[in-house]
Amino acid sequence: MKTKPMLVLGIMSGTSVDSIDVALAQISAAPPNLMSRLLNHTSIKFPLAIRREILRVAEQQPISAGELSQLNFRLGKLFAEAALVACKRFRISPNKISLIGSHGQTVFHQGKPVDYLGVPTVSTLQIGEPSVIATLTGVTTVADFRPADIALGGQGAPLVPYADFLLYRHPKLGRLSLNLGGIANITVIPAGATPSQILAFDTGPANMLIDALVSDFTQGRQRFDKNAQLASKGRGIPALLDELLRDPYLKLAPPKSTGREYFGRDYFKKLLTLGRKHRATPNDLIRAATLFTPLSIVDALNRFVLPKTKIHQLIVSGGGARNPLILAQLSAALRIAPVSSAFPSSSFVGAQHAAPHLDKISSDELRNLSSRRGIEILSSTRFGIPEDAKEAYAFALLAYETFHQRPGNLPSATGARRPAILGKIAYAPPL
Ligand SMILES: Nc1ncnc2c1ncn2[C@@H]1O[C@H](COP(=O)(O)OP(=O)(O)O)[C@@H](O)[C@H]1O
Ligand SMILES: [Mg+2]
Repeated sequence: MKTKPMLVLGIMSGTSVDSIDVALAQISAAPPNLMSRLLNHTSIKFPLAIRREILRVAEQQPISAGELSQLNFRLGKLFAEAALVACKRFRISPNKISLIGSHGQTVFHQGKPVDYLGVPTVSTLQIGEPSVIATLTGVTTVADFRPADIALGGQGAPLVPYADFLLYRHPKLGRLSLNLGGIANITVIPAGATPSQILAFDTGPANMLIDALVSDFTQGRQRFDKNAQLASKGRGIPALLDELLRDPYLKLAPPKSTGREYFGRDYFKKLLTLGRKHRATPNDLIRAATLFTPLSIVDALNRFVLPKTKIHQLIVSGGGARNPLILAQLSAALRIAPVSSAFPSSSFVGAQHAAPHLDKISSDELRNLSSRRGIEILSSTRFGIPEDAKEAYAFALLAYETFHQRPGNLPSATGARRPAILGKIAYAPPL
């Protein structure tokens, strides 16, 4: 059946709280023949006061129910304004847009049950009131995607794998989709995969610790380590990095998801203590936090992915894809990383998962390495998806699926008992 393409806006703000990303997609038909194209994308900065408040709340600092309610409505207005600014920049009238998918701002995520008033409870909270978005833009808005998956026993995350599956599956090539936001997440898409064969999880921090260190050391003058300038001036301290790589989160078997609740303020303080112990300068510590990201990703691949699945390509997106040191370490480690066929899963039990640290490799070895073939690393841009637009695009796709009453979670990725139709629909007021 031929359906008229819909124009859908996806709105995303991740754990970094750096900006509101808006993607415009044209989507038609239905899986497995769903067709979609990213038409445009843009980013809108957060007002500083709101950013500060979100970070404070996401760090689980006290907030009254009244303030949380205010923040929910304020953010709804901000997301609506971002959608309207985006339409202006895209030179498209909002009344041409059929649907908005708004992820909302995560202020709490507890994917595994913990005791709450005597009952093991899983919960998540993304705010940014969708009724406000629908009313101010005049566009029906799907939001609050995660709770339906949790209600079915899942972790409510990750949800982007459904989009990864639609966008990246290939009959012959095994692919990994890696998003480097505040947190790093991977989706494993084996060659010729069906939805139930998709594995996805958070590997650990991507930019969250780096950003926290840079903000602290520069007293807020810089918010992130642009192009790894500071990390590049740092000295490598392999022993510090080894200590970081012993983190218990890395050893947890998937499905697993994490966020500011674990890699936030407390973790950052632990990192400062560790830095003092190893006599690290600020730049040394930024370097260690930067290398921790790719090394923990490769550790996860060696533990949970490569022993079972042949991977040909790694497709990178998110702001961290612009960090040259993360990519250099990833590329060096993946050239040495064991290839699945050579490592049957049994030989991995208790094996070393450690990938070579950039700081332990001599420049001669590095030159040798660059001639070796390994897993090919590609930017999502190569697939028509700019690095900054990937997650917003994913929520446009998820909203489209919800609007057509189709599920958008992958139980193999979230741990839910069944597929769920995600989100809640706030209708635009009648004309
Ligand atoms: N040029 C760059 N060099 C290094 N890091 C960058 C660069 N551009 C963006 N980043 C990092 O990417 C982060 C934002 O990534 P993003 O994908 O938006 O994450 P989130 O989904 O958590 O909002 C920034 O906070 C910063 O750490
Ligand atoms: Mg962001």
